[in-house]
Amino acid sequence: MQTDSSFTFVLFGGTGDLSMRKILPALYEAHRAGMLAASGKIVAVARHEEDRASYLQWVNEHVKAHVAKSGVDENAWASFVDRIEYVKLDLGRAEDFVKLRDALQDHSGTRVFYLATGPSLFVPICHALASVGLNENARIVLEKPLGYDLRSSNAINDAVGEIFSEEQIYRIDHYLGKEPVQNLLALRFGNALFEPLWRREWVESIQITIAEELGVEARGDFYDNTGALRDMVQNHLLQLLSIVAMEPPHSMDSDSVRDEKLRVLRALKPIDPRDISKVAVRGQYHAGVIRGTSVPAYATEPGVKPDSTTETFVALKVEIENWRWAGVPFFLRTGKRLADRVAEIVVNFRAVPHSALGASALRAGANRLVIRLQPNETIRLYCLAKKPGEGMNLSSVHLDLAFDQFFKEGQMEAYQRLLLDVINGRLALFVRRDEQEAAWKWVEPILNEWAASGKPKPYAAGTWGPAAASAMLAQHGTCWLEEEN
Ligand code: BG6
Repeated sequence: MQTDSSFTFVLFGGTGDLSMRKILPALYEAHRAGMLAASGKIVAVARHEEDRASYLQWVNEHVKAHVAKSGVDENAWASFVDRIEYVKLDLGRAEDFVKLRDALQDHSGTRVFYLATGPSLFVPICHALASVGLNENARIVLEKPLGYDLRSSNAINDAVGEIFSEEQIYRIDHYLGKEPVQNLLALRFGNALFEPLWRREWVESIQITIAEELGVEARGDFYDNTGALRDMVQNHLLQLLSIVAMEPPHSMDSDSVRDEKLRVLRALKPIDPRDISKVAVRGQYHAGVIRGTSVPAYATEPGVKPDSTTETFVALKVEIENWRWAGVPFFLRTGKRLADRVAEIVVNFRAVPHSALGASALRAGANRLVIRLQPNETIRLYCLAKKPGEGMNLSSVHLDLAFDQFFKEGQMEAYQRLLLDVINGRLALFVRRDEQEAAWKWVEPILNEWAASGKPKPYAAGTWGPAAASAMLAQHGTCWLEEEN
């Protein structure tokens, strides 16, 4: 479907890493698929390139490599590049914003300002836009991390909120744009089958893992001041948790969905600082081997302080204080340089209350739903079945929905979906201010405690993190999914 109307997409940080890897490739894909209105324009804004010609050269050199696994369609690429204009702008120079306003004067349609810059620039850019009247009838997209803690995120939200109304603000969490996350909504709210089971009476525990093989890449500086709790838990993991645990919304409109997610975030059981060591594990990778390749320790990565205490791994036990989930542990986990790249949600249902079929009916590995977000998006329902032959011997089997086999079309990348949503004015997959505040409030005691004392536990790169993460689950008579296999 093509965007509803014409648009001008103004990209601040036009030569940054995010623009190169995600935003411009996603816009190209949408263009190639015929999803952008023909008159829509992209206006890249940056300080480094002199003019449009040199910017386009940069785009050719840096963006093409990140476009479509299937390769670049040269015709589509050429017409995509035709959409791109360039404004050289120094954020500190008020006259440059006048220049930007003039450059946008003849552009019609929806105006989007995408701030693919560090969060410290969000407020100055918004002020400068307002000073030349560019905040009117516009949408603004803010990348994470939005702030460093509750106070700084409130300060940014207050300042941006004085210039743009909440309906104009699109806070990106790219996990919400992933196809399988959308599918989780379809699975939960399109099928009556799961709803009666989706609660404390039938669910024993839930695990949500986002594991990465990558380290901090070229972002050591940024990451060392951020850590996994801010980079992944406060946003991606808590957003996934809220979608898994939310009540059925009245409709899929933006506020119905976000109201329900907010209720979950507000119902998270506050963490008592004295209990943090029981419910939270932090780790930092040491040198190790991943798929046969040696990788260095976090503390020796460029941009990282040698005595850094920043966590590259977090595992948490979370509880939700409401009727549906009281007493059900949610185990969240994320880390860099782990044994595998995988993001998945595991719903462990309770075993049968009495096994008429013998002890094998109580074995692990059944009564489980695994939603694999990446790679190889699948939904798998594990059940017990009788093994062929004599006797009643049971074995775990699974019913499989592999999306790429069922729906032959390719999946849409998260950024592509989210950028189209911004252009079309759909807010449902963007984080509302109150959700963000609730998430910061909940993580803050852990942030404070970790900043004040102790060090992360070491783990070798290429493993599943510190042993303490397994011990935490063992206390609840369970284990991480990969430990069962
Ligand atoms: C980003 C984090 O938000 O998500 C990165 O800043 C992380 O550190 C990335 O690598 C993971 O996203 P994905 O889509 O590759 O799982």
